[in-house]
Amino acid sequence: MTTERQVPDFVPICKLSDVPSGQGKMIRPTQGRLATKPVAVFNDNGKIYVTNFVCPHTGGPMSEGTIKDGVVECPYHAWVFNAETGMSAGKGDHTIDVYEAKVEGDDILLGWLKPTPARP
Ligand code: FES
Repeated sequence: MTTERQVPDFVPICKLSDVPSGQGKMIRPTQGRLATKPVAVFNDNGKIYVTNFVCPHTGGPMSEGTIKDGVVECPYHAWVFNAETGMSAGKGDHTIDVYEAKVEGDDILLGWLKPTPARP
């Protein structure tokens, strides 16, 4: 007998009104495959991005950084990343994890980890 556990593709993690435009917020999903893992949710003029919470440099809290034109900047030493792809938007080839996200009504839903594009 096989027991199959279904994990939904998208799970609600917070309200759109929890993340003001131009800001980020740390959220710990309470359900889904990322339950309890902190992620950084950003609202860039209504476009929602979800990234890794921990900066790959020295562990800065990405959610306390800024978001502008799809680029998130770490609050500690200003490393910048493309919030859509996770690729560095500055020097170097550092990356952050980025996740599928969508909005339904006032709910922000978190989906799968996006694949990292091949490096040049
Ligand atoms: S910890 Fe993020 S840039 Fe240094």
